[in-house]
Amino acid sequence: MGSKKIVFSGIQPTGDFHIGNYIGAVKRWVAEQDLYDNIFCVVDLHAITIYQDPKILRGKIRQAAGVLLACGIDPQKSLLFVQSHVPAHAELTWILNCVTPMGWLERMTQYKDKSAKQESVSTGLLDYPVLMAADILLYQTHYVPVGEDQKQHIELTRDVAQRFNSLYGETFTLPEGTIPKIGARIMGLDDPSVKMSKSIASDQKHHAVGLLDSPDQVWAVLKRATTDSGKEIVFSDETGKAGVNNLLTIYQALTGQSQTEIENHFQGKLYGALKREVADVIIETLKPIQERYNALMQDKGALDAILHRAAEQAASRAAPTLQKAKEKVGFVV
Ligand code: TYM
Repeated sequence: MGSKKIVFSGIQPTGDFHIGNYIGAVKRWVAEQDLYDNIFCVVDLHAITIYQDPKILRGKIRQAAGVLLACGIDPQKSLLFVQSHVPAHAELTWILNCVTPMGWLERMTQYKDKSAKQESVSTGLLDYPVLMAADILLYQTHYVPVGEDQKQHIELTRDVAQRFNSLYGETFTLPEGTIPKIGARIMGLDDPSVKMSKSIASDQKHHAVGLLDSPDQVWAVLKRATTDSGKEIVFSDETGKAGVNNLLTIYQALTGQSQTEIENHFQGKLYGALKREVADVIIETLKPIQERYNALMQDKGALDAILHRAAEQAASRAAPTLQKAKEKVGFVV
């Protein structure tokens, strides 16, 4: 592992993972596993920045880890652990809080969106990006593979690292966010003007396809996917064609075909055929994932053992950086 660049990424165990999470992030984590020294994290500390029912959360954390393994994260090649099992994340967050101006956090678009929907906004929600910075900086990460919505958080991570380094001396590697060329922002199937999101999906049945959805569920959502009153099945960045463009993007990300090949394939076909074919490609992608998931969840003890072993390794990898940060700020260590 020594000479490989370090990759870190995380996913919140809130709601059910959807094809946006898969295409924007997880698919790449799996595909590039051999290229990097990989660390992946189920971020439960982030999840509770908005109230979660404890009984449901516990199940979702295991489900999240199970789905990631089923998608192809290989514990021999990648560390996969639960954030709260490694206390260094919370400890470094505190130190980084003390170099992060509040104004930087108040400007974050995700904070503005999420806080607007809450009656009472927790301090944790405002501090969310600093915890994310700690996740990344603890492992001297080079690359952070994420969807487009996380870009601003990665920029903030770099700003926080730079500020710490300039105040206290070189401590943290400046990470780079890597965004996929295709599918960086999968849109809602019911409303292609908004990003596909786990929280909307938990309220609106036809918003997203979940990675554990049955073929019938997939088709029920695709059948009603919003398109437009035209006929042309082409890639387009016009607002009016956003629904068709989104379906084609999902098809492209999952089949690996070029835009021209896809447009030729659909030439002269109707929107109904497009929806059916996109549904079929999704169903084919999900089938082996769901089979592996069902097998893995037979033995929760084995799953927990994988997570705990990885957490121990993550903790020992995080320790030197946390120690260094403590020394730099003047603690007696
Ligand atoms: P989360 O759980 O919202 O999403 C996990 C990953 O999925 C990507 N994603 C999408 N990609 C394309 N289209 C979409 N509609 C879509 N929706 C989500 C996200 O960009 C993300 O890559 N804050 C992070 C979790 C996190 C993290 C980290 C990520 C915590 N610490 C450190 C990277 C590094 C989040 O809420 O992701």
